[in-house]
Amino acid sequence: MSMKDFPTMLGHLRRRLFGASPMASEVNLRGKKIIVTGASPGSIGFETALTLANWGACVIITTRSNSNATADHLRRYLHQQGKSADIDAHSLDLAAADSVLQFVRWYQKKHGSQLDVLVNNAGIHLDLAGSWKQPQLTADGFEIHWRTNYLGTLHLTHLLLPLLKSTGTMTGDARIVNVASHLHTKGTNGGLFAPIQPFHSWTAYGQSKLGLVHAAFEIQRRFAECNLQGFALHPGSIHTNISDKGLATRPLLRMLRQWFSPLEALVLLTPEQGAQTQIHCATAPDLKGGIYYERCAPADCSEQLDDLAAARRLWQETETWVQSLHPEQGASARKEVTHV
Ligand SMILES: NC(=O)c1ccc[n+]([C@@H]2O[C@H](COP(=O)([O-])OP(=O)(O)OC[C@H]3O[C@@H](n4cnc5c(N)ncnc54)[C@H](OP(=O)(O)O)[C@@H]3O)[C@@H](O)[C@H]2O)c1
Repeated sequence: MSMKDFPTMLGHLRRRLFGASPMASEVNLRGKKIIVTGASPGSIGFETALTLANWGACVIITTRSNSNATADHLRRYLHQQGKSADIDAHSLDLAAADSVLQFVRWYQKKHGSQLDVLVNNAGIHLDLAGSWKQPQLTADGFEIHWRTNYLGTLHLTHLLLPLLKSTGTMTGDARIVNVASHLHTKGTNGGLFAPIQPFHSWTAYGQSKLGLVHAAFEIQRRFAECNLQGFALHPGSIHTNISDKGLATRPLLRMLRQWFSPLEALVLLTPEQGAQTQIHCATAPDLKGGIYYERCAPADCSEQLDDLAAARRLWQETETWVQSLHPEQGASARKEVTHV
């Protein structure tokens, strides 16, 4: 973070302390199937899943580990309030192509071809201090934020597209909700296709979120005809686990963060408040997609989103990359996961 970000932080503080936080309006979700990625306890995904299940949806959550324990946690919470809960769970690591493929196969086997909403919530920001001098690369050679937040999410999205399109055609309403960030404004269209020079992890995070906003708008342009809409949003600045990730090798920073955590909780939104805009985008009746949302309402996004050629190129290059995955399983595996 730099001095330039100070006014934004003050804005968050003012809103948190003095502004009302908008809440999504309850919708009857009986009969809907909704996937929420990244629903670990303490996250906005967890709160999103809790509300959607409370409103009657069959919610399928993912975490990287302990997904069944997390589902139990959610069920127990709702049962204590006298509510029934239709919650299923499976592990998913977006940065591992095989894990994405396994999740999609499991989903189709267990839940069939219906998928009403995909909430692409899972994400990382590993270097909040902005101290990395070089990008951290994944085993397959990508910058880690790009690989996880953008490529992994789009891999999952592409494999689930046939289900979402056919559900949209049948029911008249299917949605993909990409949880982005106002930090998408740190990204540029040039940076979507070339390495970041000089490297800064906040720019890398911003690039991944710009990619997600482009993808949501492109989904709207490509698939609105089959009633599949794409939404992108900023959830707010929220007290979750996101700042702890990446501190495993920074004991001093980790300790400082633990000390300041109560202060952070005072300034930032709660996970429940932070979940509201994605719940709104996933459920509000007759909501218009292809728009960027914040505080449960349309909001301004980066001018980079006006470049439709960049959006098209990004979509096509991503599609080619997705098709190049799992070469050992070849076309038959892709056919299996995309066949509805
Ligand atoms: N908190 C904020 O202020 C804020 C602001 C703007 C945008 N966002 C966005 O909101 C979303 C949710 O973040 P959060 O604040 O709730 O953070 P969080 O508490 O860290 O939760 C993130 C979730 O994503 C999962 N995840 C991380 N890496 C993954 C991977 N490789 N594959 C699959 N899942 C993975 C995490 O699982 P594990 O528990 O296994 O790590 C966790 O369930 C993210 O996309 C984030 O960028 C947050």
